[in-house]
Amino acid sequence: MSDFTANEIVKEFATSGEPLRILDGVNVELDRGQNLAIVGPSGSGKSTFLHLSGTLDRPTSGSINLLGTEISSLPEIKLPSFRNEQIGFVFQEHHLLPQLTALENVLLPTLAKGKSSQQQNERAKELLDQVGLADRSSHLPASLSGGERQRVAVARSLINQPVLLLADEPTGSLDQENADKIGQLLLGLQAASNAILICVTHSERLAEKFEQQVRLQAGKFVRD
Ligand SMILES: Nc1ncnc2c1ncn2[C@@H]1O[C@H](COP(=O)(O)OP(=O)(O)OP(=O)(O)O)[C@@H](O)[C@H]1O
Ligand SMILES: [Mg+2]
Repeated sequence: MSDFTANEIVKEFATSGEPLRILDGVNVELDRGQNLAIVGPSGSGKSTFLHLSGTLDRPTSGSINLLGTEISSLPEIKLPSFRNEQIGFVFQEHHLLPQLTALENVLLPTLAKGKSSQQQNERAKELLDQVGLADRSSHLPASLSGGERQRVAVARSLINQPVLLLADEPTGSLDQENADKIGQLLLGLQAASNAILICVTHSERLAEKFEQQVRLQAGKFVRD
């Protein structure tokens, strides 16, 4: 079995009438160090798939396995710490806390277990350096540009050294130059940390840079 396996994923949402079937038998296998771009029209279920992969929601049927753990059936109580330790998220909007500095925002995922260690502090600084923001670590989000905020979000997603990195249109709110930078950054950091990266994007330009691309169409992944 691969490090990340999604097997025959079906996701339906309840409506007043017939349930809405958004994913209709999605299959993916990825090993550590591999990356995948997901493209597809608005409403096709791309975010839904990322949510299931990130244990933010559960499939109607099918299973998702990460490094031997059946994540789609983990008990509710185990989800927050599992997510915090194994999965990194980058969203279209950065979701930084406005009252925390860049450095503190990067350290946020480490606080679930109490105070950040000196080692985590060093790692946060190193990540800020890797995303080109060493000299912005004490800035509040309001005094960072859009691209810089998104780079902080990328650094934050990696602070706990996740196995699985999930990005949902990480460059969607940026101009092309900054979008390209964020894309390269994600791929570079993913390779360096031997993580699995799954990235949803509307940008064909960004998708092309990934080793694998799939299109979500009528509830299924179609290889481009
Ligand atoms: N909790 C929910 N209840 C009912 N329907 C939902 C729910 N979440 C998503 N949907 C529906 O599922 C479909 C897929 O949504 P999703 O957010 O996954 O699309 P997407 O491919 O990410 O689109 P976009 O490119 O616009 O972000 C949409 O039609 C949406 O309305
Ligand atoms: Mg979406």
